[in-house]
Amino acid sequence: MSKLHYVQYTNSRENEYLPAMRQLISKDLSEPYSIYVYRYFLYQWGHLCFMAMDEHDTLVGVVVSKLESHRGAQRGYIAMLAVREEYRGQGIATKLVRMAIDAMIELNADEVALETEVTNTAAMKLYERLGFLRSKRLHRYYLNGNSAYRLVLYLKEGVGSIGMSYGIPLGMDPNQLPMGYQDAALPVSKQENGQFL
Ligand SMILES: CC(C)(COP(=O)(O)OP(=O)(O)OC[C@H]1O[C@@H](n2cnc3c(N)ncnc32)[C@H](O)[C@@H]1OP(=O)(O)O)[C@@H](O)C(=O)NCCC(=O)NCCS
Repeated sequence: MSKLHYVQYTNSRENEYLPAMRQLISKDLSEPYSIYVYRYFLYQWGHLCFMAMDEHDTLVGVVVSKLESHRGAQRGYIAMLAVREEYRGQGIATKLVRMAIDAMIELNADEVALETEVTNTAAMKLYERLGFLRSKRLHRYYLNGNSAYRLVLYLKEGVGSIGMSYGIPLGMDPNQLPMGYQDAALPVSKQENGQFL
């Protein structure tokens, strides 16, 4: 499989990035988002959007998110996540989500939330491995009639009162974590010339 690199979205390259992003994301949606939905997120929180590109700079994965004040807390929200079908199962989405979360942590986020279809096994596995917890089941949440889970990741001790921090049980030595936790414990955002390694 080709070598990938990870980049942060920038609005100065909207003409290049946005059409590719829409094409990738709309492939997996029954009701494609309008361009205004993308612009709502990207104009305000382009710095919380990360992309995986192949060696030809073709987009193979993307995460779109935002960070806002919500009931006195800084709440991050993962709005869109997609990886091209032939690139799935290699950890690309996990890395993109971790980059978004790391960027939110830098901005003092308290928690991160999202919704995903209850039947989306890959997404549920990915998010729960990162420490997201099921906070609510939303009956017939999507237009296709499917139900969703709202998932929440608590980033600070005492917030959400669940004794977890970014997927790590509080008080546990990060070096002694069980399999599956180690990756979540490490910030991945090593940036060099606008690119993440
Ligand atoms: C969900 C999605 C983004 C995951 O992308 P990805 O790059 O393959 O994700 P990762 O490789 O980081 O991790 C996926 C995890 O799900 C597992 N998985 C993938 N397909 C699965 C399936 N059908 N059943 C069970 N587990 C599955 C993988 O094994 C992996 O877990 P592991 O690391 O413990 O083995 C991708 O499947 C996708 O684009 N789906 C369509 C859009 C979508 O559903 N977006 C999410 C909306 S919230």
